This record gives sequence, structure tokens and C-alpha cells, in this order.
Amino acid sequence: MEIIRTVKELKHAVEQAKVQGAKIGLVPTMGALHAGHVSLIERARCENDFVVVSVFVNPTQFNNPTDLKTYPRTEEADCEKLEAAGVDVAFIPSVEEIYPEPDTRVFELGPVAEVMEGAMRPGHFNGVAQIVSKLFEMVQPDRAYFGEKDFQQIAVIRKMVELCGFNIEIVDCPIKREDDGLALSSRNVRLTAEQRKVAPMIHKILTESVNFAKNHTVEETIKMVTDELNKVEFMEVEYYQIVDPLTMQPIAKWDDTKLNPVGCITVYCGDVRLIDNIKYTK
Ligand code: PAF
Repeated sequence: MEIIRTVKELKHAVEQAKVQGAKIGLVPTMGALHAGHVSLIERARCENDFVVVSVFVNPTQFNNPTDLKTYPRTEEADCEKLEAAGVDVAFIPSVEEIYPEPDTRVFELGPVAEVMEGAMRPGHFNGVAQIVSKLFEMVQPDRAYFGEKDFQQIAVIRKMVELCGFNIEIVDCPIKREDDGLALSSRNVRLTAEQRKVAPMIHKILTESVNFAKNHTVEETIKMVTDELNKVEFMEVEYYQIVDPLTMQPIAKWDDTKLNPVGCITVYCGDVRLIDNIKYTK
């Protein structure tokens, strides 16, 4: 595995692979890698000849400076995991390398980016669009891989791809969970031992809500999930919305979408912000 820190070297390495006819897979990450990231890399490995993983804590997508400061940074351990996963290039640039000058681009992402995370974290999705579009321009991969834990982010990235006209397949990959159901997240390491014990309640209550939903309205289901989670020590639900899986718009009735609705949740467990989601089958 080659560790590359400059855009020039990255472009050169990818170019070399492309002249040999290689299909390129890109897995963008912010590091603090866990089994969820490894599952994206394994999928990319299977479907491409050359795999690039970027490790970059992107400042433009953080609307909260404390969150940016406390975001876990574990480069040495990340490189070991990337090497073991058979990655060809680990791209680990500095902030100056990616943003030699401020990125002032504003993406017209529309309604998919206005609800939920978009409403709670102003500017977050524009920052995601900035970094992912830059990575797409640099690598020009055939496919790029994203985890479904960040369900809304995938819809936003698809919109950015459409706006920019990239010819890149966006591959969404299922959520990886701990044995007790907690969705893997780089933020989980910040949970105290007591918080870690109750954190699986998020997935447990979401799973129970799938049965509950069969005999209840959307509104009742949202209330049940919110009330039950708020009863758990350390937990405070920021939002729970049940949305159309393509438009991300909240539904009022189960029949408001032809597709399987998805419940998207953000919960504070102490001061750790956790997100998760669940599919409702119709
Ligand atoms: O999901 C993430 O880790 C980040 O938002 C991404 C896609 C790597 C962009 O910084």
C-alpha cells in the first residue's frame, strides 16, 4: 500500500493504474476506521482493480468547532487497517493540501439537504459536497462507496453527482453493527462505559417500532420511538423523522411514499451525537 499526501502524487498513482485498464474504487473516510469502513473497502476490493481510501477530517463539514476538535484521529491504526484490507492507495492529505484557498462553492442541493441533518447542522452538507466533489475530481473513480448509517448523506451525494455531471456509480453499503445492535461509528469511542451500555437501545427501539408501525400511524410511531428513547438514561432525541427514501421528505401517512419508508434518528447519548436509521416494510 502506498501512503500519499499530495494531490499531484495521488493523480499520478491513479493515472498509472488507469493506463493499465484498472477500474478504480474510492472509499472516502474521515479516519478512525472501524469494521464498517472495512466492509466498504472489502466491497470496493471485490468490484474494482484499484482501491483508493481517503482519510481526511474535512473541516468544512463541521458546523461545531468542538466536534471538529474532538473528532478522533488515529492515523497509525488506520494505516494498519488499510494495509490489512488490501488497499492500493491511502490518501492522507493535510488541510492546506485540500484547501490551498477557501472553498467558496455553494451547491444547490435542494430539498434532500434541507431536512434532518441539513436543518440541524447548517452548512454541513455543503461541506460534504465540497470535499466529496474534490475527491471525485482528483481520483475520477468508477465507483465510490458510502455507508447507509449516513442515509441522508448518500442522497445528498447523489444530488451533488447529478449537479456536477460526474459519471461515477455511488454504491451504498449496509450499516455494520456491534453484536448488541449499536451502529458502528467513529464517535462510539467517546461514549463512557455507562453510556455505551445503553447506546444499543437506539437500534432496539427502532427495531421494535417496525412491528408497532403495523398497527399505528406515522405520528404515533414517531412519538413511541421518541418517548421510549428519551426515557433511557443519558439519551435525548434530537429528531426522529420517517421519510421517503429518495426525496428524504418526511411522510405524514404510510401511503405517502410508494417505497419503503425509512426512519432517521439522531440521539445525544451524553454529549455524543449518534445517528441511526431503520427501514419500514410495507
Ligand atoms: O461520511 C463521512 O465520513 C464523511 O462525511 C465523508 C463522506 C468522508 C466526507 O468527509
